[in-house]
Amino acid sequence: MPVDYPASEVSVVRRVLRVIPLGIVLCFIHAVVLAQPAAKQVQPQTSSHVVATNSSDYIGSETCATCHDEATKKFDTNNPHARLALEHGTNGATCESCHGPGKAHVDGGGDVTKIRQFSKLSTGQADEICQTCHADGHPNFERSQHAQNRVGCLNCHSIHASTSKADLLKVDQPNLCYTCHKGPRIQFDQAFHHKVNEGLMSCSDCHNPHGTFRDAQLRTTPDQNAICAKCHIDTLGPFAYEHPVVRTNGCMYCHSPHGSPNPRMLRVSVVNTLCLQCHSSINLVKFPNASSEQGGPVHDQSIQYVACTTCHVQIHGSNAAFNFFR
Ligand code: HEC
Ligand code: HEC
Ligand code: HEC
Ligand code: HEC
Ligand code: HEC
Ligand code: HEC
Ligand code: HEC
Ligand code: HEC
Ligand code: HEC
Ligand code: HEC
Repeated sequence: MPVDYPASEVSVVRRVLRVIPLGIVLCFIHAVVLAQPAAKQVQPQTSSHVVATNSSDYIGSETCATCHDEATKKFDTNNPHARLALEHGTNGATCESCHGPGKAHVDGGGDVTKIRQFSKLSTGQADEICQTCHADGHPNFERSQHAQNRVGCLNCHSIHASTSKADLLKVDQPNLCYTCHKGPRIQFDQAFHHKVNEGLMSCSDCHNPHGTFRDAQLRTTPDQNAICAKCHIDTLGPFAYEHPVVRTNGCMYCHSPHGSPNPRMLRVSVVNTLCLQCHSSINLVKFPNASSEQGGPVHDQSIQYVACTTCHVQIHGSNAAFNFFR
């Protein structure tokens, strides 16, 4: 079986990964990796991309442990990747599944040019190695704002020195995100905000850091609605009397979910300025039914001092009243 590495190993594995689950893929990888015929292969060697040739180039984590005691001990107890060792009747190659085959490195007495050093890889090269196993879970990563701006797996994850409770993050959210996103940090400091800083919610409840089909890497509900509807089910309807803005313009036309000085996280501090953007005399042609700025026949002068939502309480839509009174 002729195999020219590394391109084919990576691309075959990635192609397969798109269609079958991780566990099966791991078997496949190890099958490819461990079942190489002993015949010598053409072996392009670079210090940044050490290349697999055949199974005898893999020596197993126990050997790594003899010199990298600390890295290994911590790994076995704390790292989900230690599971790799359990593959194939505990013959999996934990360290080498990421660092590449280690025989030449060991034979060279720890020759660092003969082992894959992540610090010497470009962001794209490192991402590609991680994605050989993880592309399945993150199919949109390449088109994400993060990947497009060379923010890679290792900007957010640390394999050996994670300080987070889960997911091998470098540090927990939201601080992880705030290291690069100063704007949101300021927004979440406002008086009314989703309780992200308080630890009750995460940035990743609304965003997928690995990319989505939506702008701003926003997640969606399973039925492809705005993610907001996952928790605020009652706002999206369907209603007998819809407020069309909610669906056509979306929640963010009126709300600013990172934070706001308004208790309902509105984009404006006084609700009437929001409503009058559409329901005012200038817009009478567009909304023939809407009031003049004084409120037309039913609205007298005084309403300009009262919040519109005092009377029009069911502002997202109603099943009982066309005017959203209840
Ligand atoms: C005979 C001892 C020995 C064995 C066995 C060994 N290494 Fe090393 N390794 C070294 C030495 C020495 C260095 C260079 C000094 C350093 O940076 O720690 C090194 C460096 C490395 C580096 C680069 C460190 C850096 O700073 O970037 C990696 C990665 C690595 N080894 C992984 C492995 C893996 C994986 C295995 C098992 C397949 C392994 N080593 C087995 C001795 C060994
Ligand atoms: C899931 C992929 C992966 C596995 C499995 C893995 N490493 Fe690493 N290793 C990395 C990455 C990525 C780095 C770069 C630093 C980081 O992200 O923590 C690294 C860095 C290192 C270093 C350089 C020193 C350092 O901490 O920066 C050594 C040595 C090392 N690994 C040894 C090992 C040994 C020994 C094992 C097996 C017990 C192992 N690695 C398993 C991905 C992996
Ligand atoms: C901008 C930061 C960021 C980048 C870049 C990033 N991640 Fe993540 N990753 C996270 C956060 C935050 C979580 C936990 C929340 C979640 O599941 O979305 C996570 C969770 C995960 C998980 C566990 C849950 C799951 O989705 O399967 C895996 C595996 C993972 N990331 C792998 C990767 C790989 C592989 C890459 C590179 C291709 C990558 N990540 C790039 C931030 C990031
Ligand atoms: C050889 C396959 C393989 C490679 C390569 C690989 N991983 Fe993993 N990864 C796994 C497996 C297996 C798990 C455990 C999944 C589970 O427990 O469900 C895992 C789990 C994770 C998790 C989830 C941690 C958690 O707490 O659940 C993260 C994050 C992750 N990997 C990131 C990375 C990054 C970053 C890289 C590249 C440096 C990488 N992986 C390379 C196979 C791999
Ligand atoms: C309640 C859901 C929600 C949470 C939680 C959330 N976001 Fe957002 N975020 C959004 C929405 C919705 C947008 C799009 C805003 C728009 O269209 O006006 C957005 C936009 C963004 C943007 C792009 C526009 C900008 O403001 O720069 C970034 C970056 C961002 N969020 C980062 C974060 C970070 C970092 C966190 C955690 C600290 C976070 N978000 C938490 C919903 C959320
Ligand atoms: C290493 C720096 C870094 C980290 C850490 C990081 N990001 Fe980003 N993020 C970027 C860059 C660079 C962009 C590209 C667009 C930009 O400059 O805002 C981006 C883009 C985004 C966008 C899309 C913005 C838009 O305008 O469409 C969102 C949403 C986002 N990040 C959320 C997060 C979340 C959530 C986290 C934490 C889990 C996080 N980021 C961690 C650097 C980072
Ligand atoms: C993961 C669940 C979750 C998601 C997703 C979510 N929210 Fe929320 N939201 C909450 C919780 C819980 C509260 C109330 C507790 C608090 O103050 O944080 C809240 C409060 C609010 C409030 C203030 C309501 C009040 O009475 O104080 C508004 C407005 C709001 N969310 C809008 C949105 C919008 C818009 C989105 C989508 C961008 C969104 N939410 C996504 C959980 C969520
Ligand atoms: C036309 C502007 C507008 C749109 C669009 C809009 N909202 Fe609201 N929303 C409001 C106003 C105004 C309030 C305050 C009502 C009050 O003061 O009683 C509010 C209140 C809320 C509240 C607080 C609890 C409640 O139901 O009164 C939540 C949660 C909320 N909105 C979520 C959403 C979500 C999720 C979406 C998108 C599906 C959305 N909103 C779309 C204007 C809007
Ligand atoms: C982006 C424009 C827009 C904004 C902002 C907006 N609306 Fe509307 N509203 C509409 C449209 C369009 C209709 C449907 C008009 C129609 O069917 O003739 C409507 C319908 C209504 C109705 C039902 C009346 C009817 O004739 O169906 C009421 C009451 C109403 N809006 C109140 C408000 C209030 C109060 C606010 C502020 C919280 C507000 N609207 C914000 C566009 C808007
Ligand atoms: C004191 C209670 C009250 C307040 C405050 C109020 N409205 Fe009304 N609104 C009404 C009544 C009553 C109707 C007529 C309902 C009917 O005809 O059955 C109405 C009808 C409407 C209609 C439909 C008009 C039409 O001709 O069909 C719109 C649009 C509207 N209001 C917008 C607003 C806006 C925008 C504000 C804030 C600037 C506001 N309302 C404040 C009581 C109020």
